[in-house]
Amino acid sequence: MKILITGGAGFIGANFIYYELEHHPEDQIVCLDNLTYAGNLETLKEALENPNFRFVKGDIADRPFVFSLFEKEKFDIVVNFAAESHVDRSIESPEIFVKTNVLGTTTLLDASREYGVKRYHQVSTDEVYGDLPLDRKDLMFTEETPLHTSSPYSSAKAAADLFVLAYYRTYNLPVTISRCSNNYGPYHFPEKLIPLIISRALNDETIPVYGTGENVRDWLYVEDHCSAIDLIIRNGRVGEVYNIGGHNERTNLEVVKTILKALSKPESLIRYVTDRKGHDLRYAIDPTKIETELGWQPKYNFDTGIAVTIDWYLNHREWWENIINGEYKNYYEKMYGNR
Ligand code: NAD
Ligand code: TYD
Repeated sequence: MKILITGGAGFIGANFIYYELEHHPEDQIVCLDNLTYAGNLETLKEALENPNFRFVKGDIADRPFVFSLFEKEKFDIVVNFAAESHVDRSIESPEIFVKTNVLGTTTLLDASREYGVKRYHQVSTDEVYGDLPLDRKDLMFTEETPLHTSSPYSSAKAAADLFVLAYYRTYNLPVTISRCSNNYGPYHFPEKLIPLIISRALNDETIPVYGTGENVRDWLYVEDHCSAIDLIIRNGRVGEVYNIGGHNERTNLEVVKTILKALSKPESLIRYVTDRKGHDLRYAIDPTKIETELGWQPKYNFDTGIAVTIDWYLNHREWWENIINGEYKNYYEKMYGNR
């Protein structure tokens, strides 16, 4: 089988490439990525040594390019991870989110239709459901929860999901969608909360916490997300949405304190900063459907996953130091300098 993985030079896509190469060595993998600030070829160094893996640089919204690639390669499966993925950046500059996340998705859908792809899978997010109140622990997102987005990022992801479902209904394109909670693990870009805490704490730098730090996220170790997507593309029912999450809700403050403790760093590093505009309060996934239909179970809980993740960052200092010493330095100053 030949699988196109878009956005594979980013965090989750790269982890998925390694997962597929390990678990399905008979398959051929092509990664399409245009290497934005979030894409890093260094991450794919080991994959590039595998004869069943190839990297192609290009934009998922570049129609002629995407169509010629599909014509040449005859993909069986397309898994679309490529996206602008950071909520804070979407608040600063929404337009690129529309271009990549919406136009890019429809371009891939059109090419999948034209060249007879057997399965198109869209990697989506629980953020399309909006947020839940902090004082209703009984509420969780199911696949039936209405879309009710807050940020330009989640709005663009929800728009893409609706196009994917429209291509199923209108053209019978065999699609699936997964909506996952917050991921963490190896190769996570240090603008996101967990790698930001680890990298800054290791350098004895302050940790910016938005608002009161009471917002809740439902954390999933990235390998568990990969195993879920792998099951969906092979055994999932077309036209269906599957939520992915492992019941690991934590407040942001709990996450920060857990990591500081594990690194033996003082809580005095915490710096409360102005809250994010429109900040979602709480995410929580009900994963009953994927558990009962596909037999998916996560291998990690937050305690085991965060320990492995911290170890990874300790052992891969060069990977993240190259990022934080580059262009990212200017981003950090711009976003947090006067906050
Ligand atoms: P990321 O920002 O780390 O990686 C995105 C990748 O897409 C980068 O390699 C980038 O170069 C590439 N890309 C961006 N625009 C492109 C374009 N126009 N053409 C080709 N490639 C392009 O993101 P991530 O955290 O790995 O997220 C991957 C997917 O998973 C996204 O669709 C995101 O919405 C979704 N998701 C992420 C999380 C999370 O916690 N990170 C949770 C749920 C869902
Ligand atoms: P983030 O990693 O950006 O993921 P998302 O917004 O998609 O859930 O942020 C996770 C949580 O951490 C979110 O509630 C915002 C908060 N946060 C901070 O408090 N400080 C920070 O510097 C960042 C990046 C995030």
